[in-house]
Formats: sequence, C-alpha cells, structure tokens
Amino acid sequence: MHASTTPLRLSRLRRNETIRKLISETQVSKERLIAPLFVSEKITEKKAISSMPGQFQLSLNDVAGFVDEHRQHGIHSFMLFGIPAEKDPRGDVALREDGIVQKAIRKIKEHQPDAYLIADLCFCEYTSHGHCGILHQQEIDHIQTAHQLAIQAQSLAEAGADCIAPSGMIDGMIAAIREGLDTSGHHQLPILSYSVKYASSFYGPFREAAEGAPGFGDRRSYQMDPANGNEALREAMLDLEEGADMLMVKPAMNYLDVIYRIKQQYPDVPLGAYQVSGEYSMIKAAAKAGLIDEQQAMIESLLAIHRAGADFIISYFALDLAKYLG
Ligand code: PBG
Repeated sequence: MHASTTPLRLSRLRRNETIRKLISETQVSKERLIAPLFVSEKITEKKAISSMPGQFQLSLNDVAGFVDEHRQHGIHSFMLFGIPAEKDPRGDVALREDGIVQKAIRKIKEHQPDAYLIADLCFCEYTSHGHCGILHQQEIDHIQTAHQLAIQAQSLAEAGADCIAPSGMIDGMIAAIREGLDTSGHHQLPILSYSVKYASSFYGPFREAAEGAPGFGDRRSYQMDPANGNEALREAMLDLEEGADMLMVKPAMNYLDVIYRIKQQYPDVPLGAYQVSGEYSMIKAAAKAGLIDEQQAMIESLLAIHRAGADFIISYFALDLAKYLG
C-alpha cells in the first residue's frame, strides 16, 4: 500500500521513452511473427493483390526471393497458401506430390533449408465449390474431409513442411491428421490448429488473395459463431485432446477476449493469433485516407494481440514491422 498522503502519480513513469520502455509489459518482435505467403500456379510473375496493399500472389519463380527478403529482415517463419491452376469438387489437386504448395516448399527448402515453413491445410483453395471440404448434399462431410486432410498433410510433410496448420474447422481433423502423420513416419511434425476460427467478414480481402470464396452459401455451418466465447474453450479442449501442439485464434482484433480466455485456461500451450486480411487492409485503408498513422496503428494492433495472451502472430505486417524495427 501507498503510505503517503500525496497521490501516487503513475505519470512519473511515463515521462520519457527510456523509462516507458524499461517498464513496458509487452513487446512486439520479429521472432514472434509469421508471414503469410501466397503461391499461384496460374502466374509466372508476382501479381499485386489489390484488396491488400503491399501483398502479392507469387509465382513459383518468386517464392525463394520472397523468403530471402524476409529472412534478411529477420522474419524466418511463413504460412503457405496455394492457388492451383485447376479445381475439382473434392480438391484432389491438393494431395498431389506436384501440387503448387508441395512444389513451393521444395523450392524454398532448396534455397533456404532453415526457413520455417508452416503449411496451411484446407480444401477451400482447391475445391471447385470453394468450401473447406468434401460436400455431401451441400453440407460438409466431416468424416471424409478429415480423412482427406490427413492425406494432404502427409503430402505436405513429404515435400518438407516444418509444421501443419489445419484451418478448415472440420470435426476430428486433428486426430485424423496426427494419426496420418504418425503412421507415415512424421512423428516430429507439429500441428498448429486453427482451433478457434470464426465465420468472419474480416476475411473479405483474403478472397482475392487465395481465390477461395465459397461458390454458394457461407462457412457458418463449420466456422464459429462470432457470438460465442465459451464454445471456443470447447474447441480448444477438443483439439488438445486430439493432439494439437499449438492453438490459434482467428481473427485477432475482434476476439481478444477469446485469446485471453484460452491463454488463461491453457497457459502452458503455445497460442497463436491470426491478424487477418480485413484487419490489415482496414489499417492500410484508414492510413491511406489520412485517418490514422499506419506504423503506430500496426504496432498498437500487434501489441494488443500479444497483451491479450498470444505468443506469436500471423500477420501481413510481418515485413513492415521487421523493417520498422530495423
Ligand atoms: C481458408 C482460410 C481463410 C483464411 C485463412 N485460411 C478464409 C476463410 O476461412 O474464409 C483467412 C485469412 C485472412 O483473411 O487473412 N480456410
């Protein structure tokens, strides 16, 4: 307790940058960022994503250079998304040894064996209908999809992925993928589960980036309802029981309470958060309109996600932050 009769003035510890830094509770750091990487089979040179200023779809020729540039600035982890030349109702192209992500992983590993490559694992970029799995009468068949995801995971593991990140919110997917990896000799490969993924409008700009918008309906029958927080704890619990090594909440900014609750419930489990396309593009657009300062907003948003309890962040700002930090 403060014994004096004069008030404790917290502003004493805010008087200059040095003292503020000395007592800051949360830091942003390059080591805790993962950069998303989009590779397309349909292009031969990189193409700007107009909905996400500063982001690109890469061709196979560009992936090593992209990784190089990031690593030079201290970003060593990547989340890979693929855009195939052809799609079909079951997304079978995703399982091929010469699939676009498999090829990209091999190419990057040839040049940059130490880059940490996390493969996003989902079917929405590969199915002709754009849903995250195999459909049965317009509804996701969770059992068949989990089985196919396990095969896709093995294929990505064989290509050289360092970590598998299932993002489809398919029931039982973690158990199926873990079993598939273990029985094919990939015991060492961790699973980063998109455990708590909401059916969010903030994925809007990503549609152009990954070309995986659903052809009909939406994803509300498998992704979580933004109204729910308690349910997130059940999702996390199930994924841990099924063998997830790390958890993730997505999107980040509107779900800081969920990040906080999961970290409180499972303090010893590494937790990631995905600052999604809409979060990124909103800051870019507001800054461009002169409404906010881009760098300050970027840092504030990343700090908030860490403060809520995320250990690491998947963010389109990865390179911008790395350059800013120098
Ligand atoms: C697909 C997937 C999506 C995102 C990552 N993986 C889109 C969706 O589920 O609709 C969104 C990422 C972003 O918006 O940055 N499973």
